[in-house]
Amino acid sequence: MTTHQLNVNGRNHSVDVDADTPLLWVLRDTLGLTGTKFGCGQGVCGACTVHLGGKAVKACQTSLQEAAGHAITTVEGLSKDGSHPVQKAWLAEDVAQCGYCQPGMIMSAAALLHHKPHPTDYDIDAAFADHVCRCGTYPRVRSAVKRAAGGAK
Ligand code: FES
Ligand code: FES
Repeated sequence: MTTHQLNVNGRNHSVDVDADTPLLWVLRDTLGLTGTKFGCGQGVCGACTVHLGGKAVKACQTSLQEAAGHAITTVEGLSKDGSHPVQKAWLAEDVAQCGYCQPGMIMSAAALLHHKPHPTDYDIDAAFADHVCRCGTYPRVRSAVKRAAGGAK
């Protein structure tokens, strides 16, 4: 086992975990950051979405080795006080139902708006195409993304 350096939410961590361990397990089990959720473990539900170097990635499909050396942001690190525009829009639109898929949705929304501040409906649909919400919050997700972008609801 080798020691790997991870930068998560602005903090550096040394972790002694096998290099091919999925980042999701390192975040949840090693670092105790349980905001990032395990859904499918196969890259098809989006519950585990985090930012790696500013891009939305699925932590269950990203190895520790791939993540080391890049800035990682989890839902816990999006803001200190819930003041990120996406978090505020999510509350305003009352998006969450059971909430399980929501950290991944929020992280994809934040990445989308970072790269496309004024996304079209097509952009939004594309960004969430591989997110699964069993509660069916998709219409509210779309409204919240638009609200966070400063556009119409
Ligand atoms: S848990 Fe990673 S995509 Fe479902
Ligand atoms: S809010 Fe329940 S799974 Fe999405």
